Amino acid sequence: MDNAVMKRGIVIKDDWPGYSLDLFTYPEHYHEDIESVYIPHGVIMDRVERLARYVMDDFGDNLTVLCVLKGGYKFCSDLVEFIKVLGRNSNKYLETRVEFIRLKSYLNDQSTEELHIIGSRDLSFLRGKSVLIVEAIVDTGKTMKALLQHVETFEPKMVKVAGLLVKRVPNMAENLTDYVGFEIPNHFVVGYALDYNEYFRDLNHICVISETGKMKYKV
Ligand code: HPA
Ligand code: MG
Repeated sequence: MDNAVMKRGIVIKDDWPGYSLDLFTYPEHYHEDIESVYIPHGVIMDRVERLARYVMDDFGDNLTVLCVLKGGYKFCSDLVEFIKVLGRNSNKYLETRVEFIRLKSYLNDQSTEELHIIGSRDLSFLRGKSVLIVEAIVDTGKTMKALLQHVETFEPKMVKVAGLLVKRVPNMAENLTDYVGFEIPNHFVVGYALDYNEYFRDLNHICVISETGKMKYKV
């Protein structure tokens, strides 16, 4: 396939309005807080299955997954599950270890300046390993660049980045993400473990937050 197509993933155009909420089910308590279903859960799953195949093709026989919490937990868990299923069905097993790192850089819908690595900063288990960083969303890439630098200090054998979403923002990250699920316009999205001040992680579709939602859960 065309390499440029593969690199960008599924490209969602600026004028995509999403699907009407009435066409899907979602937690009733979010009724006024989201505008539309932007990427339905089933489509996310189908795309994650495809990303699992790319990972299988690129990694030899062992894989150390570094899941970026909290937003990456659904993507990571589904991706690893698909990798396991692919292994069973093709008799090519990837010995997989999953580790977690917690980062925080957003307050409300704004990126804060500093990158905070919360929890274990000692990633010495990465030495000599083939590492896949699994992150829900990459926009300017500032966070990812900082994390990559940190990871490199532990001298892994190789590092790849899987981003479920890459956001088209001014100064967007070029070529940071090896496996992209979807390239999306510059909207603040929630669901599938992506939050707004810790809300909406219990929503399975990826949705666009409404002004009402932004006000209601502002801190
Ligand atoms: N949604 C949730 N968290 C985020 C986003 C977003 O659009 N961008 C960066 N962190
Ligand atoms: Mg967040």
